[in-house]
Amino acid sequence: MSFKILGTGSCLPQRTVTNEELSEFLDTSDEWIQQRVGIRQRRVCTTETTTDLAAGAAIAALEMSGTKPEELDMILCATVSADNAAPSLACSVQNKIEASCPAMDINAGCTGFIYMLETAAGFFAMGYKKILIIGAERLTRCADWTDRSTAVIFADGAGAMVLGPGNSYISSKLVAKGGDAVLRIPSFHGMSPFYEVEPREPYIYMNGQEVFKFAVNAMCTDLADAVEKAGLTMDEIAWVIPHQANARIIDFAVKKFGIKPERCLKNIEITGNTSAASVAILADELVRSGRLKDGDYIAMAAFGAGLTSAACVIKWEA
Ligand code: ACO
Repeated sequence: MSFKILGTGSCLPQRTVTNEELSEFLDTSDEWIQQRVGIRQRRVCTTETTTDLAAGAAIAALEMSGTKPEELDMILCATVSADNAAPSLACSVQNKIEASCPAMDINAGCTGFIYMLETAAGFFAMGYKKILIIGAERLTRCADWTDRSTAVIFADGAGAMVLGPGNSYISSKLVAKGGDAVLRIPSFHGMSPFYEVEPREPYIYMNGQEVFKFAVNAMCTDLADAVEKAGLTMDEIAWVIPHQANARIIDFAVKKFGIKPERCLKNIEITGNTSAASVAILADELVRSGRLKDGDYIAMAAFGAGLTSAACVIKWEA
């Protein structure tokens, strides 16, 4: 017994920021960003907190699933940009939606949502009945807005699912290759008068090319392994939901596996990279589009800080 998806939801900040707006204060252009990354615009928080986005996505997922907050057994959140280091984002959401169950966060960089699905599967094996899972980020808080190589990429948003007992979680592969040399978001340095190490820049640091190489390889290997573990071939996968980090990474996988482009979901053009929220936002788009058929196989793949990567296969149970 694993789980089935009972409902999905997503929530994006009100404010849209175009590439042209970024070009007003960064040495960049709409043409460069569209060609190299595939982003035209992104959503950016102006007043919303990560908790607001997470709770918005959660409420939409609860509504779709017909679940009341008090029925939940567990809330999990995947994030690298919670409003506080403590309490967890999951506890802040629990408070905001007036649930009463246990709650905790998972950090696996942009791969967090798939790590969280695996964690949820473990809870269902222990007999849990209703779990709310949320990927939520306010990454624009972590960016150095004078650094054109990262500021143009990251964005804000949240996606959620309500899970109940079922047999949808078919296979998975989780990977970690620890180290912070190529991708990191430093945590609060503090002001201890005894600590002698100079603080690091508090913003996202990314060696784009190194992460790109890791991402292309990880995405293709993990997808192939998860699909094989499921006893399927790529032709039998109805929908691929890849992490939205760079359209070129997604296009590479599409070409390598001969996936029909319309079967590989992409919204990076308008949402940017929302890290742990990205696959959840796309899953919500897919569910709400009405295109899913009972028994459809969905493959998800993600990669990010850790370095981590993961893929899984889910069977849609209507
Ligand atoms: N506008 C214009 N020029 C730029 C910009 C910009 N926004 N950013 C970089 N450039 C320039 C560079 O300075 C460089 O100029 P130079 O040749 O004169 O030195 C040139 O463009 C090429 O730079 P590269 O870094 O080689 O550009 P690349 O094609 O690799 O694209 C990018 C950079 C988009 C960051 C890409 O490497 C990438 O997508 N990497 C993967 C990112 C990713 O997947 N992150 C995942 C997870 S994030 C997480 O977990 C939180």
